Amino acid sequence: MQAPTAQIKVDGKELTLPVMIGSEGEKAIDARNLRKDSGYIFYDQGYGNTGSCESAITYLDGDNGILRHRGYPIEQLATYSDYVETAYLIIYGELPNAKQRQQFSRRLRDNAAIGTQMQRIFEGFPESAPPMGMLTSIVSSLAAYYPELATNNFEKDLQNFDLAAAMAISKIRSIVAMIYRYRHGLPFIHPRDLPFADNFLHMMFSDPYVAYQPIPEVTRALNLLLLLHADHEQNCSTSTVRMVASSGANLFTSIAAGVCALSGPLHGGANVAVMQMLQSIHDEGDDGTRFIQAAKGGSKSNRLMGFGHAVYRNFDPRARIIGKACDEVLTRLGKSDPLLDIAKNLEQAALKDDYFVSRKLYPNVDFYSGIIMRALGIPTDMFTVMFAIGRAPGWIANWKEVASNTKGRIYRPRQVYVGTPKRDYTSMDQRA
Ligand code: ACO
Repeated sequence: MQAPTAQIKVDGKELTLPVMIGSEGEKAIDARNLRKDSGYIFYDQGYGNTGSCESAITYLDGDNGILRHRGYPIEQLATYSDYVETAYLIIYGELPNAKQRQQFSRRLRDNAAIGTQMQRIFEGFPESAPPMGMLTSIVSSLAAYYPELATNNFEKDLQNFDLAAAMAISKIRSIVAMIYRYRHGLPFIHPRDLPFADNFLHMMFSDPYVAYQPIPEVTRALNLLLLLHADHEQNCSTSTVRMVASSGANLFTSIAAGVCALSGPLHGGANVAVMQMLQSIHDEGDDGTRFIQAAKGGSKSNRLMGFGHAVYRNFDPRARIIGKACDEVLTRLGKSDPLLDIAKNLEQAALKDDYFVSRKLYPNVDFYSGIIMRALGIPTDMFTVMFAIGRAPGWIANWKEVASNTKGRIYRPRQVYVGTPKRDYTSMDQRA
């Protein structure tokens, strides 16, 4: 069979471009030689129609609300797996056997502690420092504390990958717990030999003389929350990781850039914005109409937070899972949350509103994730750093793909220049 191609005509010249077909039938026109052959580039602001890489990690079909990691549907992983196992799957490509799982868990355990020198970084921050601001700086410092794992030489860094990957996942979790303790003026609690999620809750909520007692429902909910965030194809932070990695940068530096990208309200910061919105509706005794009306005005700053997605034109499958889990977690913990009722009502109202229906705007993962985190006792200002713990495996797996690709190029998009055409330098006395 002849390989598929695409024809385009520019300036009267016919060009034949190769077509690529992904393993789930996704079609792409290979435009790598377009500029060389025609002088043109494709303009695609925000890269919404641009495949920046080939990747074997996550498959996402936004029109049909499908998300799979390494072929496994997110619904099955959410039901049968846990965060650590899914992290292994995302990073290494297969579900671990018993021995691999044990080794991976051990590596996570053995690399959980934050060294005494590194702990001093915290002291330089005011107690009021925003958690994401702290996390970005502290994660990037890993490259300085562990230079032998962060040489900026892919060959060497890949030899140490297993250790660096486990360190990144485990330490990001410890750093997040320490950020919470530091900002609340509480002493740091060191990690113990506990399962991943319990160890986090221990570092967050133990007192020096009273150890946190794991609650199975809480552990399960935290595992689910982290698992649902573990990877999500070429989102803003993951693409940032790949972009930084493409320059040859080490794992720690590359994922620190991912943490920075995550901080914006249109990406990882959305979960905070959702809670603020739900809280305002609650405090004002409104039914959400004001927010829905304002969101329809077209201004980015008034969007209905937790709604819409850059790629889903359908329900975000993670939102379905997490929305259901909210009910279950609150019931199991014997808690109720008025914000959950508000969220459900708001969702129903938006799903009936023509503005949202016609634009195919559905709830995304952030719409309900904050409610689970509140139930676990995690304060709103920590939501985005929690997201970062969850997303670490995706960033790591994507870094590994870039680092392992011996034919990879540095990421370097082009632009359409719309500034002032050439002009000559003027001396100060001639300027207006
Ligand atoms: N509220 C109101 N209008 C919206 C919303 C929203 N939440 N989201 C999109 N729209 C509108 C856009 O203004 C646009 O309207 P127009 O056609 O009249 O110009 C239309 O819907 C289509 O927008 P998209 O192209 O789908 O949106 P885009 O890809 O630019 O943005 C984004 C995606 C950033 C997620 C957006 O939906 C948004 O801002 N949502 C709220 C923030 C949020 O929840 N972010 C979390 C995303 S999930 C994650 O990062 C984990």
